[in-house]
Amino acid sequence: MSNKKIISTTSGISFEQQEGQTILDASIEAASPINHSCRSGRCGFCKVKVLSGETLAYRQEELSPQEIKDNYILTCARTAQSNIKIDAGNLSKITLPKSLTFPCGIAALTLLSNNVLKVTLRLPLIVRLDYLPGQYIDITSPNNICRSYSLATAKVNEQTIEIHIRKIEEGVMSNYWFNQAKVNDLLTLQGPKGTFFLRDDIVQQDIYFLATGTGIAPINALLETLEYLPESELPHSITVIWGGRKVEDFYLDLIKKFSNRALKINIIYTLSATPLNQLSTTTLTQYKETPYTQGYVQKVLLRLQPNLAKSRVYACGSTLMINAAQKLLIEKGLDEKHFLADAFVNSAS
Ligand code: FES
Repeated sequence: MSNKKIISTTSGISFEQQEGQTILDASIEAASPINHSCRSGRCGFCKVKVLSGETLAYRQEELSPQEIKDNYILTCARTAQSNIKIDAGNLSKITLPKSLTFPCGIAALTLLSNNVLKVTLRLPLIVRLDYLPGQYIDITSPNNICRSYSLATAKVNEQTIEIHIRKIEEGVMSNYWFNQAKVNDLLTLQGPKGTFFLRDDIVQQDIYFLATGTGIAPINALLETLEYLPESELPHSITVIWGGRKVEDFYLDLIKKFSNRALKINIIYTLSATPLNQLSTTTLTQYKETPYTQGYVQKVLLRLQPNLAKSRVYACGSTLMINAAQKLLIEKGLDEKHFLADAFVNSAS
């Protein structure tokens, strides 16, 4: 008897799950990837509702008692035991670039601020890394610690790629990057991974990018991608809201970078911890061209009085911000299918 199971979805797409596969892996293999990030039961992005059929948990799932009662599962942690039907959002056929594992070397280490490091990685000449801007990679250090990092640019540039690392006190990987890493160190790269990339439903919509900390790195890659799109494929408007606790957190000058380009982008920096009236005159002068505001990114978005019915939101940063933004914006009328996110899961240490 065949051990294949059929997974059907409310989007009308069905795929097969082989014995031993998770539901998520089966969806990726079938080029209909369910939204996901960590693939290890921690971020919650692969959560779906089971409408019929039986599933079995491979590993512990972080779900609330209410979610369990309502038949939600994490598809990276479960396998189907019978043919099942799930509500997995608006799945579409997307061929994800193949994830590869290969060695790479550190080409350059550049401090972007006191606590953010740009790492340029050189890929072997024989490797062609295809990725969708917004996706992430896993890096394993010489001392065998593995962490995930979003790719910070839209394309491989002369066989190099760029990632941004935030310094975390007492973080073991952070300690490697900031105190031990040197040019030519050999690392292992696995990727690309994740489903955080631009969807094809952005034409004539209002796009909001929300970021905290180094969550701006994949947003930068997405903005670069938008620059290459023909006018007929562009959104109606593009707004970036970048949150930080203090001014030093805004380590990229996005305004300068994008100000003279054809693509019009509204860029807002927002402080969550330092009241504007407490910034020194020097700091304010230094940032006088910057449209600073105050408050959490999701609240700043609402202050712009968006038409949420024609908005798409892409959020990257802390799990705290993502959960709060998702809850608030959906409450205010954003379709849950139009909120895409990628959270820092293990890159913050
Ligand atoms: S919890 Fe499943 S992808 Fe993160």
